[in-house]
Amino acid sequence: MQSHLTCFNPACRACFDINDVLYNCTVCGGLLEAKYDFSGADPVALKKTWRERRMDNSPLCQSGVWRYREMFPFLDDLRHVVTLREGNTPQLNAPRAAGYGGLARLTFKHQGFNPTGSFKDNGMTCGAAQAKRLGMKRVACVSTGNTSASMAAYASAGGLDPLIFIPHGNISYGKLAQALEYGAKTFQVEANFDQILALVRVLAERLGIYLLNSINPFRIEGQKSIVIEMMDQRDWRVPDWIVLPGGNLGNVSAFGKGLREMYETGLIDRMPRLGVVQAEGSSPFYEYMAAKGLQPFHAQEHPETLATAIKIGDPVSWPKAQFEIENSKGTVERVTEQEIADAKAVIGQCGIGCEPASAATLAGIRKLTAAGVIDRDADVVAVLTGNVLKDPDYIYRYHTGELTAPNGTPIKSTFGNKPIVVPNDAERIGQLIG
Ligand code: F0G
Repeated sequence: MQSHLTCFNPACRACFDINDVLYNCTVCGGLLEAKYDFSGADPVALKKTWRERRMDNSPLCQSGVWRYREMFPFLDDLRHVVTLREGNTPQLNAPRAAGYGGLARLTFKHQGFNPTGSFKDNGMTCGAAQAKRLGMKRVACVSTGNTSASMAAYASAGGLDPLIFIPHGNISYGKLAQALEYGAKTFQVEANFDQILALVRVLAERLGIYLLNSINPFRIEGQKSIVIEMMDQRDWRVPDWIVLPGGNLGNVSAFGKGLREMYETGLIDRMPRLGVVQAEGSSPFYEYMAAKGLQPFHAQEHPETLATAIKIGDPVSWPKAQFEIENSKGTVERVTEQEIADAKAVIGQCGIGCEPASAATLAGIRKLTAAGVIDRDADVVAVLTGNVLKDPDYIYRYHTGELTAPNGTPIKSTFGNKPIVVPNDAERIGQLIG
């Protein structure tokens, strides 16, 4: 078997055909992952091929995901690919944010530059391709925003019918607008993310709809390309740390798998450490890892954070995330609403900008350098997962001193930048400008 699905549970490791429509192991209920035979891989030749593809204008080579397709060879026919030229996201130096984070230097890899504004596009292009390969007609996801926008776009671009389930009243307006514009049938359900995911899994099974949440192993395959592209852009110099926000924990699982596979094939010569940051009110993984095996994993029933992208109390991929954090000698941190909001404003001051969950990275780095976990001189890449325009309301409120945490605590406008109301008077405005 060249590529197949295996159970992630080390005590099970059951194998399944790559074409089986499965999200969990049918033997033990564990998570699934795609496996390949990389034994003949030639790292030097691969690196050369990937560089050459940057000069090739064909859609597959222009995609910052499919350019690296040798690392996720699950498709038998590349005509199934649906691409909007995802990936190709920049790495940006941010000296001001570095200083704030207690580092000599800091690089952001900004996934908000993707076609629909988040890292979800890296995974969705693969999920949509597999849906087409399986002959699926309808695809579904539950989302607090970014997944829905991404899925709607890729499904529609690929001629599939997108069905979106979102928590009623708990989604960013801009993201809902994208889903509607891209033609998704959208259901606003009166329940939270975790409850709706359980519901959608039942519906998917019952109605033969293909599920495109990150439990889908092909989403994870696509998201591996974020770290592959990162290493390519860095000329294969491995950073000391890669820091990212954690919600459902699909992305850290993808990063860990991608890095391991690059290490095993000789593309990189060491593993970077992975740092996951959660919001304090929505931090079941932090709590589990902090207990160091003394407590079983406990889902949080009522997760709360203004960073809606990581407002997830029952993250499906926690066993994979645990493995990847431990395997990379990484860490998990949690940060307050105030810390997220201030870090976000600092990222904005760098001319970069991001949505709130992304800013948890810088807030987490600040804490981890202060605690001595990350060295001041470490080479750190923080992954900004979403575009600054995701939660414009949040930004306006922060800068005008009107932002409050979910528990009602006011958030201080530490780096506030209030718009100034002025009369139509050149003299007066001139004085204000100085
Ligand atoms: N950052 C952003 C911008 C996100 O949209 C998400 C997830 C995450 C981080 C968390 O990533 O789940 O892989 O740990 N957003 C989901 C959504 C919930 O519906 O768009 P994870």
